[in-house]
Amino acid sequence: MDEINQDLLQVNLDALTENELRKLLTLYMTQQKLGLYWERNQIEHDKALNNNSVFLRFADEQGKSLSVGTPPYRNLIIEGDNFDALRCLRITHTNKIRVIYIDPPYNTGNKDWVYNDRYVNKDDRYKASMWLEFLYRRLILARDLLTSDGVIMVSINDENRAKLELLMDKVFQGMRLGSFAWRTKDTGNDSGGNFSAVHEHILVYARGEFSFNGNSLNTKKYRNPNNADPKGPSALNPITKAHTYKDRPNTYYPIQDPNTGYWYPCDPDRVWAYASETKLKPDSKIRAETIESYLRQNLIVFPECKPEDLLYYATKDELLSAIHAGKGPMLPQKKTPLFREDLPDLDFWVDKQIAPGRPSKKAYLNEKTSLISPVSSWIGGIKEDFDEEDEDAIFFMRSQKGREGTDAINEILGAKAFNYPKPPSLIMELLRQASKPNDIILDFFAGSGTTAQAVLQLNKEDKGNRQFILVSNNEAPPNDPENKNLCRDVCAARVRRVIEGYNNRKATGGNFAYCRMEKLNHADVVQDLDEEVIWNSLCLKHRNELLPYLTKKLNIIYQDNETAVIFCPHLDDETITNLIDLSSRQIILYSNRPQSAAELLTPYKNIKSLSAIESIMQETGVVNVY
Ligand SMILES: C[S@@+](CC[C@H](N)C(=O)[O-])C[C@H]1O[C@@H](n2cnc3c(N)ncnc32)[C@H](O)[C@@H]1O
Repeated sequence: MDEINQDLLQVNLDALTENELRKLLTLYMTQQKLGLYWERNQIEHDKALNNNSVFLRFADEQGKSLSVGTPPYRNLIIEGDNFDALRCLRITHTNKIRVIYIDPPYNTGNKDWVYNDRYVNKDDRYKASMWLEFLYRRLILARDLLTSDGVIMVSINDENRAKLELLMDKVFQGMRLGSFAWRTKDTGNDSGGNFSAVHEHILVYARGEFSFNGNSLNTKKYRNPNNADPKGPSALNPITKAHTYKDRPNTYYPIQDPNTGYWYPCDPDRVWAYASETKLKPDSKIRAETIESYLRQNLIVFPECKPEDLLYYATKDELLSAIHAGKGPMLPQKKTPLFREDLPDLDFWVDKQIAPGRPSKKAYLNEKTSLISPVSSWIGGIKEDFDEEDEDAIFFMRSQKGREGTDAINEILGAKAFNYPKPPSLIMELLRQASKPNDIILDFFAGSGTTAQAVLQLNKEDKGNRQFILVSNNEAPPNDPENKNLCRDVCAARVRRVIEGYNNRKATGGNFAYCRMEKLNHADVVQDLDEEVIWNSLCLKHRNELLPYLTKKLNIIYQDNETAVIFCPHLDDETITNLIDLSSRQIILYSNRPQSAAELLTPYKNIKSLSAIESIMQETGVVNVY
């Protein structure tokens, strides 16, 4: 074992058993070095995962609930370390989360995350390894929560992208879909070397069945006045591509309208999208359609042109003087010249009738193979100029102006309560693309709660029923937990205001349960776990929402005409009678004494007795990540 690993271990080697020492040694000797490697403390890792179980409890302070709205609570804000929260969610939400978005600490600032109960200093020798280990533990747990069509999107800055991507490749093997780059500011920022670093990344990993929603094609522009065209509605699309005549000399050529004989010059900075047979070599095996083939099919439409609008040059000198006087053919909208002295084909244009305007191509709606265009990997800034002309172009998302995230919080909470929140419009766009209206969306580095705001606003906009689960820590120093409470005072306060309305913004409606976590050693669970906590887990597991526990003898978690899920911690004659009354349904009965319940209910074959505690314990705690 080298010096580095010894340092990192920070454990008392003398206290380890022989077996533990042996395991440690074998691991360090055989550890794979290819790919991403970071120093990790295997023993602590195992212990942290397997030592105890974690459970959720409604939080209140001075007898007042911190939850907002009325039950059943469809959304959750969990205060505390997300490692524990993810372990809780393994009990209740395995394979249920369709979208995870996280914006973890980027490991750049001082003290922005806690490793093994201590903040890691900026100059810590193993900061990068600890950061990777910190994320690894959490990502492993998060992976199991995804549905078979689930997706995880992770924000990261340019500096740490490579490391995180390798880590993601390791955890989400075979699931890499790609990444988005988004513009963080609409102004420049010289970060040295004449380089303006104003973008960040969002890495996207998804299970096989996932797809982004894409963008529906705008079908309004497809028309068929008086149903005159038997092929149905059509639209006119530009026939140019963003390449210069130097890049694509083969698609730089003049087009002639076969009916009028008028000629249309090519834009030297934006050539035609289709090849011309006049430019193809005789043995060329081009598979795409040529402009001539579209002309023969009558699919190229030329603008109407009056004879007095035509341009004509009898000699090259006339043409050159027109160019010098800025009176040559122009692009109709941008008014940029189509002819320049340096262009190779000027002689061609002598003695030709040159028409203004641009030809376009007819596209029939019923020939579209898909009415959805895919989302692009670029999220444009508000001022960025994109080629939106091309209807076959991929669809890009936009984020709003820089500072939007901070302004959003200031507007809601009236003060700068959080550094570097994400812009709500960015998260909204991601969710608009990645989520469906009934999805559960998880953000376990929720910070100031931007994701909840985005979910609530998106639901309001498209009448969706998306649910959110947010985990936010209190950001208090570990040895002084009362010092600060980010989760309560910023995240939950913000989400409450969005739900209830603020300034002149209308309420989005909705609610959330505010929960804290309780840790119990495995050995103490049976004795110490109380009914309320069991109820919370069962409720989330079977309903995906939380109801306060009413401490009745027979607690219906869920029922419809065919099934009922019931929690009866203690069975007595009255409870048994009530259960039998319900037994026209299939019943899943959770109790503390499933054995005796099964005996008492033997004649009722459609009642299945389960141990409440065991059913919770089975999925918590022990996690094998190797
Ligand atoms: C980059 S911020 C997220 C900001 C968030 N996207 C927003 O718009 O407000 C990361 C957050 O994760 C929190 N965090 C760090 N370690 C955590 C942990 N172990 N459990 C929960 N949250 C943690 C940090 O305190 C910080 O609030």
